[in-house]
Amino acid sequence: MEKLIRFGVSVPKNLLKKFDKLIKARNYGNRSEAIRDLIRESFVEEEWTHAIDIAGGISMVYDHHHRQLVNKLIEAQHKFHNLIISSQHIHLDHNNCLEFIVVKGKAEEVKKLYNILKSTKGVKHVGLMKSTVGKEIV
Ligand code: NI
Repeated sequence: MEKLIRFGVSVPKNLLKKFDKLIKARNYGNRSEAIRDLIRESFVEEEWTHAIDIAGGISMVYDHHHRQLVNKLIEAQHKFHNLIISSQHIHLDHNNCLEFIVVKGKAEEVKKLYNILKSTKGVKHVGLMKSTVGKEIV
């Protein structure tokens, strides 16, 4: 395990009070864990702005009765098949489907796929989960 370094941080009293409330609500054991996580999140966010490999997920909710819509969504995924590691289809109820697509590749390509799916008429919701391949994250 990497050596830990202690450092002091000065923040306004009320900001720290709010932060303590937030980390308690998010179930962190202490401030250090929460701050480490925030730092890592910043690096992941940064990775998504560069032309390097990232990993993540795209979720979609749609009504499968729209035949044309289903075909368009499948076509878009085939166009970006190099990015897609796996996809899972969940039948939420009689009408609605949830699809979760796991992706790995260049951030800008993933964003292209995300934007195509998101702008496809009839899709109820598309979410993007930004993660990392982990190489740059300690
Ligand atoms: Ni379904």
